[in-house]
Amino acid sequence: MDRFLVEGGKQLNGTVKISGSKNACLPILVASLLTDEPFILHRVPNLRDVRTTLKILTALGKKTQYENGTVTITADGELKNSLPYELVKQMRASFWVAGPLLARFKSAEIPLPGGCALGARPVDIHLKGFEKLGATCATERGNVILSAQELKPAKITLRFPSVGATQNLMMCASLIEGETVLENIAKEPEIEDVAEVLRKMGAELFTDEKGRLVIRGRNKLNGVEHAVVADRIETGSYILAAAATRGDVRVEDCVPEHNSILLEYMQEAGVPMEIGENYVHVKPYQAPLKPVRIKTAPYPGFATDLQAPWMALMILAQGASEVDEVIFENRFMHAPELVRMGADIVTEKSVARINGVKELSGAHVMASDLRGGFALLMAGLCAKGITEIERVYHIDRGYEDPEGKLNALGAKVTRYNPDKDDF
Ligand code: UD1
Repeated sequence: MDRFLVEGGKQLNGTVKISGSKNACLPILVASLLTDEPFILHRVPNLRDVRTTLKILTALGKKTQYENGTVTITADGELKNSLPYELVKQMRASFWVAGPLLARFKSAEIPLPGGCALGARPVDIHLKGFEKLGATCATERGNVILSAQELKPAKITLRFPSVGATQNLMMCASLIEGETVLENIAKEPEIEDVAEVLRKMGAELFTDEKGRLVIRGRNKLNGVEHAVVADRIETGSYILAAAATRGDVRVEDCVPEHNSILLEYMQEAGVPMEIGENYVHVKPYQAPLKPVRIKTAPYPGFATDLQAPWMALMILAQGASEVDEVIFENRFMHAPELVRMGADIVTEKSVARINGVKELSGAHVMASDLRGGFALLMAGLCAKGITEIERVYHIDRGYEDPEGKLNALGAKVTRYNPDKDDF
């Protein structure tokens, strides 16, 4: 398995270009199941989760081609309406095929994704929504079995604004003739990108005066050509990495307003920045970093996916700060690893209390999830000496060419595989 060796003490300087959003890409790729017509997607990042999604589409009977950031998906005979556990266990977002398959076949059999490193992560909100649309949901042999005589539009209020459930229901309702109304939905920018694709496919989607998403579905949807929105989590990660190393970095091809809360907190922490239409320029600074307390929340609140990289910034602030993680029950696996590098963090239930330290020292650490992995990379960049990060495959799930992008900014990150390479 690949590892990273990070030489610490290097300031990041230069320009980094942001890739297309992983979290928009995955449901959009899956939306290709709603039609037999060609689907062309641009700005698709080369990530492990994207490759897994393409495998899923192939397993379901689509033909996929990926070249220079463009994915072309075409029909290749009959589609299947079930998915093997092997593929679902690699990525929870595999469950997002349930909505399109249910809409196409009135039946689908998908393995329950189960828990993950971040906690239990049930899919009850997805299933409640499918039931409202006329499906029955049963669990047999570890699979969710969805079936319906007929699907019908409905008014659905989500008990929590789940990102995945919102996307799954939007996709399903777009292929059901009539008006479905979704209330208390997620409002992440990725949702709007999925909505845009569904509009291009022929469905009508808009937000009404009460903030509800109205979907006027059609019984047939067409193919699309679409460029994926910028990845706001990658954007935030590079902004935070630049600030942590006190570097001078222009983060380009992004949508700064998708990171508004992060940018406000960065300013509160004392990081100087210039914010343009499609870039954020992080400027170098001398003064000590001020501690800032954050609490994660659904968009437009502070993104849970930026919680770990934010913590990697705060461990070097002057004073005490707090991180309250309320979206996922178990999302502090990076904290003990950061402590091994000299950070002072105490976690209790959903809260991490951080006392800023003057410096970090390189250590042998292990990534246990995607964003926590990037936090370790950030800490490695700031630490004295060498940091060795194991289980880099977590980082590869969601960051396109992380060592290439960081090294172009002056970092020294080397990928190696102890089973193959001699070091
Ligand atoms: C998506 C993102 C992930 C991000 C998360 C929250 C993708 C591929 N992944 O994940 O990067 O961290 O949003 O912004 O887009 N929940 C339930 N029942 C459900 C569904 C969710 O209890 O049916 C709970 C989850 O366990 C979790 C919370 O709701 O505690 C948020 O989950 P959700 O918004 O659904 O996240 P995902 O769509 O899985």
